[in-house]
Amino acid sequence: MARMKVLVIGASGQIGAWTVKDLVEFYDAEVIAADLSLERAKALAERMGKENITPIKLDAADPAALKKAAKGVDVIHNSAWYELNIKVMPVAIELGVHYSDLGGFYDYTLKQLEYDKKAKDAGVTCVLGIGSSPGITNVCGEAGARRLDSTETISIYCSWGTKVKTDNAAFPSYSVRTVLDEMTQEPGIVDKGKKKKVPVLSGMKEVVMPEPSGKVVAYYIKHSEPATMADFIGRGTKNVSFRIGFPANDFATFRTLAQLGFMSEEKITAGGASVSPKDFLTAMYLKSVESSRGAAQSVDEFDYFRVDVEGSKDGRPAMVTYYVKTWNDSVKGIPSARDTSVPPSITADWLFKGKITKRGTLPPEACIEPEPFFKELGRRKIMVDEELQYTKTFY
Ligand SMILES: NC(=O)c1ccc[n+]([C@@H]2O[C@H](COP(=O)([O-])OP(=O)(O)OC[C@H]3O[C@@H](n4cnc5c(N)ncnc54)[C@H](OP(=O)(O)O)[C@@H]3O)[C@@H](O)[C@H]2O)c1
Repeated sequence: MARMKVLVIGASGQIGAWTVKDLVEFYDAEVIAADLSLERAKALAERMGKENITPIKLDAADPAALKKAAKGVDVIHNSAWYELNIKVMPVAIELGVHYSDLGGFYDYTLKQLEYDKKAKDAGVTCVLGIGSSPGITNVCGEAGARRLDSTETISIYCSWGTKVKTDNAAFPSYSVRTVLDEMTQEPGIVDKGKKKKVPVLSGMKEVVMPEPSGKVVAYYIKHSEPATMADFIGRGTKNVSFRIGFPANDFATFRTLAQLGFMSEEKITAGGASVSPKDFLTAMYLKSVESSRGAAQSVDEFDYFRVDVEGSKDGRPAMVTYYVKTWNDSVKGIPSARDTSVPPSITADWLFKGKITKRGTLPPEACIEPEPFFKELGRRKIMVDEELQYTKTFY
């Protein structure tokens, strides 16, 4: 069989670099590692030491350059900023090439779904939001619904942290701009069958995550899952929500930064330079993350998701809960980069091998077969546990 060829956009990013590694190590894929910076893309290829990685400089927002870079590839995966999805995906459809990304942050996902007919007509599958969350969480929702006779409520929770007690802020290992957006933009939920926006950080709820996270206080934040899961899982699903249980230190840090105006995109003049507080914070964050990365790898970091699927079975209330657990690995990297980077690699392999046959713009719950997917995650020590709770009566 020919070798799979994948174009990874944002290949040297915190997530993209690990997707490139997984594609090469697990599938011996040929990877075009594209990034805004050729130096970073080259450094990535050198670090991996594999001849089947071709580093290129690409601004994926430029359709002509993207078309040139995507010549002859089987899959285009966008691992860069979510606003790019709506620029890259139409080009993939036009080229007749399968596509995946890491999520459209609710509103962009809804826009992407409007391309369904175009994708179907082109015979293309566009998998929207196939990381950890969105991604693994969506597949858990579908898996849970299959265990029940009908589904009513899907509640998703996320937490992360380190095993070592510390007063220092743990760095969320995904784009800090996403964290800043999560702290400032209105979340969408599905409530009694209707999509609606709710205030940022509302919906406070205590939830028990696996140890050492334990009991956390979680709040609604903006995420892609509620944009699709009720419609695509169906079976009566009326409520879908996503809550995040920040480690207390991080929550306090980001909330203070928000209150101080650091999330603003409006440029200010300081020290002779004109820069927005958000751009400045992003640059500072990246600098600090780079210098702390070595230390972070030696600490027990974890990333957890919990998905509760509530409904009924045999005429009685029932619930299926999934726990997705990832720890850092000195070779395979920090947890949230591992659990987010691997699903696009599995998806590319399945698209290439024809294991995904549905066409159109599809969220993961609509096109990824849960159990084989969980087993593939397990091969990388990304662990999915399923817990069933229902009552049987004998009278
Ligand atoms: N689904 C999930 O579970 C999940 C989890 C975490 C994160 N995410 C999402 O994943 C995305 C990437 O996160 P990350 O932490 O890897 O971000 P990151 O570290 O900032 O990496 C993104 C990379 O893409 C590059 N890039 C930006 N614009 C580009 C363009 N027009 N053409 C080509 N390359 C471009 C960036 O270059 P510069 O640095 O020069 O801009 C950077 O190297 C974010 O949107 C984030 O929200 C999803």
